[in-house]
Amino acid sequence: MDIASLRGTYDIFPPQSRIWESVELEARRIFNVYGCSEIRTPIIEDTRLFTRSIGEGTDIVNKEMYTFPDRKGRSITLRPEGTASVVRAYLQHSLYKDQGLCRFFYIGPMFRYERPQAGRNRQFYQLGTEFLGSTHPYYDAESIALLTTFFKTLGITDAVVKLNSVGSRSSKENYSLSLKDYFAPFIKSMCEDCITRFEKNTLRILDCKNPACRETIKGAPSTEHALNQEDAEHFHSVKEYLCAMNVRFEIEPRLVRGLDYYTNTIFEVVHTRLGSQDALGGGGRYNNLVEEMGGPSTGAVGFAVGIDRLVMVLEKILSSQETALSDSLDVYILNPNDSLSADHIVMLHALRSCFVKADMCTEQKSFKAQMRTANKLNARFVLIHGEDEIRQSIIKLKNMTQKTEEIIPYTTFYTAVEKVIERIGKK
Ligand code: HAM
Repeated sequence: MDIASLRGTYDIFPPQSRIWESVELEARRIFNVYGCSEIRTPIIEDTRLFTRSIGEGTDIVNKEMYTFPDRKGRSITLRPEGTASVVRAYLQHSLYKDQGLCRFFYIGPMFRYERPQAGRNRQFYQLGTEFLGSTHPYYDAESIALLTTFFKTLGITDAVVKLNSVGSRSSKENYSLSLKDYFAPFIKSMCEDCITRFEKNTLRILDCKNPACRETIKGAPSTEHALNQEDAEHFHSVKEYLCAMNVRFEIEPRLVRGLDYYTNTIFEVVHTRLGSQDALGGGGRYNNLVEEMGGPSTGAVGFAVGIDRLVMVLEKILSSQETALSDSLDVYILNPNDSLSADHIVMLHALRSCFVKADMCTEQKSFKAQMRTANKLNARFVLIHGEDEIRQSIIKLKNMTQKTEEIIPYTTFYTAVEKVIERIGKK
């Protein structure tokens, strides 16, 4: 076939799709515990939503958006992230009017035209939360605690939270000025992008990946000294709350984020097993965004996790046995007869109605070949009810892990089904 998936996009199929499914299920469970409700926003939006919120000087807006005119010539963009759309929906539906703090979560695809590599795709997936309606530093800490709890429940205990604060508008401006002073003597020898950033958006220089620029960046002033008293107190409280919740973090004094809307707390979670694209997730506070988009002054904080990268880490830390088990079958019904027995069809249907993950062999194959299929499907039990068993009014149930066999009396169909369900531990 000469048509393949587009560069930077990919198909997700079993057994990997099982990991995606369990990540999403676990996320929904944790989000629910923390009082977040789902918000689903469109994948296509008016381009202005992203240029205004993410910022004109950012890589996402300048180089990475999938933007195209629709049939009426309006500029449309495939969402590169979720925060802007959540804020738009919050304003469009006046959700700030009758509710206090709104806690939302979302799960879905995002699009960025980046150079694809391991962990960096053009269609990728994020799960995230946005808390809108409070400036209290507790919610910065709660967002980070939620994120680390989520990773822990998935078995990821070695992700590192990097934390910083860029402060409010005035502190950010202060910081930008001190960066300008610092970079001015070096800027001519830095990369083209940094020269543009120096004029348009000095903070962005700190994100440059060019090795020569990184050397200069090492000596740049940290954000700490640029924070005004209120911002410094806010940051201090966030750290205190995190310690109270036993959430470990590392202060990264030159951490900045690739989106312009952040104020005060910013954070990134990294994992060593990811290689160069090591950010599993990131987020922070954005107290000006709602107002800048035309709404009332509203405190907000949130994060997003890259599901693609999360699955990469899980694949590395889960043993192949664990991955296989998550894809296992409870019962495989063998077909010892020449044709498909109605008895087996009814049995399969009854088991599935009781939420037992069951399947059966529909082909005429040797016993050995059918057992091979059962093994391939990771069946925990194999059920045999052929002519011999019918004559003796029994069912044979083979435990594939323990390599044992049990005889179950077949007095009536229902008692037999009940006994099978009991034996396989589903009751
Ligand atoms: P972000 O840092 O741009 O933040 O993206 C969050 C996460 O999405 C990254 O840490 C990474 O795991 C994943 N990610 C980003 N780009 C790609 C890509 N091309 N391929 C694979 N994974 C990727 C945001 O998007 C903000 N909206 C987070 C936020 C929510 N801030 C406040 N609320």
